Amino acid sequence: MYILLMGPPGAGKGTQAERLIEKYGIPQISTGDMFRAAVKEETPLGLEAKKYMDKGQLVPDAVTIGIVRERLSKDDCSKGFILDGFPRTTAQAVSLDAILKDLNIRLNGVINISVPNEELIRRTTGRLICRKCGATYHTVSKPPKQEGVCDKCGGELYQRDDDKEETVTKRLEVYAAQTKPLIDYYKNTNVYVEVDGMTGIDAVFNTIVSSLEKGK
Ligand code: AP5
Repeated sequence: MYILLMGPPGAGKGTQAERLIEKYGIPQISTGDMFRAAVKEETPLGLEAKKYMDKGQLVPDAVTIGIVRERLSKDDCSKGFILDGFPRTTAQAVSLDAILKDLNIRLNGVINISVPNEELIRRTTGRLICRKCGATYHTVSKPPKQEGVCDKCGGELYQRDDDKEETVTKRLEVYAAQTKPLIDYYKNTNVYVEVDGMTGIDAVFNTIVSSLEKGK
């Protein structure tokens, strides 16, 4: 199953990807996670990406397209993947088409999760992430059983640097200007599905899975 998850910051792409990994046994390709790992390891890519991420801006296309091209050609992607947070610009979408053509892959679903801005700010500013396994929580709507501790692996929970309200506001502006236009890019393909992201995590997941199964 080859899945593309779209949606603004905080729409629930990562949350749904976690479940889709379990259901289909395919890897999640999250450019945001790849950049955060590089920042943590202080690699040249990480140092470059951090300059943009801290300001809520997009990392330049040339850098981002290169890492996705390399990642999608790995063996574990041959039976499927979940793209999360890529593409985010028209140039990235055009490059993705070329990469998929080279790999002889057709997407099974382009899932756009839509959520109003007020809720996106609430979700991102309350989000907590496990340092060890990457599981996502929310201080109000999905709290861990024990404060500051991951239910799944016991790892420490932290808040992302770019989840401060000021940076989230900038990320939403960047989304509206550079990524939202991609809806038109995919809308007329027969795999595009718009999902209401306000219906709860389980309901969103069920809607995504039924649309993917229909399109098989
Ligand atoms: P990235 O890491 O991709 O962040 P994002 O797209 O801004 O998305 P988020 O991870 O913030 O949100 P999400 O949709 O995954 O929501 P989640 O499931 O966590 O990118 C970060 C930065 O990296 C970018 O700003 C940019 O600088 C750079 N970057 C990344 N990709 C790039 C690219 N392609 N090109 C250039 N630069 C790039 O959910 C959020 C919260 O809501 C959680 O607490 C969750 O529990 C809760 N929640 C989820 N679903 C629901 C629901 N249905 N109901 C109630 N609560 C819910």
